[in-house]
Amino acid sequence: MSTLDTLLNRNSHPRLTGPGPDATQLQMILQAASRAPDHGRLRPWRFVVIAGERRLSLGECFRESLALKGVVDEAQLEKAVKAPLRAPLLVAGLLHPVEHEKISRDEQGHAVAAALHAAQLAADALGFGCVWRTGGYATDPHVVEALGGDPGDQVIGFLYIGTREGPSKLLVEEPLESLVSYF
Ligand SMILES: Cc1cc2nc3c(=O)[nH]c(=O)nc-3n(C[C@H](O)[C@H](O)[C@H](O)COP(=O)(O)O)c2cc1C
Repeated sequence: MSTLDTLLNRNSHPRLTGPGPDATQLQMILQAASRAPDHGRLRPWRFVVIAGERRLSLGECFRESLALKGVVDEAQLEKAVKAPLRAPLLVAGLLHPVEHEKISRDEQGHAVAAALHAAQLAADALGFGCVWRTGGYATDPHVVEALGGDPGDQVIGFLYIGTREGPSKLLVEEPLESLVSYF
């Protein structure tokens, strides 16, 4: 697939199964992420790979996150535990901001988002399905700490990556007229 084909045809695929990327493919996905535009080359990102049994540990952490917020509903807590099992492999992309007089935290967050999009496109180009999720866990210090982040870090996205299960969504034509203007 050409780069343009990948860019023009990417879509999210929430229904995923195994196999996920192997070590070489994962390496390519992460290399693609780290080619993202990054003002000042601050490298404000950290990528955490979660696969196999560790997905359940992350699920447990999600459950704790809800419990700490006062959620007691067992069904909701159980759903949180199982959430990371929706794909064989996850990549959490964390914003790990660097103090800089000119390059703001926001701008550094944009770089992490660009990196995650690149990772998503690389996964797509390798034939995998992928979906980007966040939710309340992304900014919860309990989850960030469990992922090895520092205080003040945040998860910009959890990429769920795996083999597509079922048909892909139909791509709808994007009407650009109302979104694009010429200055
Ligand atoms: C920053 C960000 C956070 C997102 N968080 C979630 C999420 O928590 N749950 C979800 O179902 N989709 C989430 N999405 C949206 C999906 O990843 C996806 O883009 C959306 O379902 C539209 O599908 P498409 O990518 O095929 O156009 C998020 C997207 C972004 C960019």
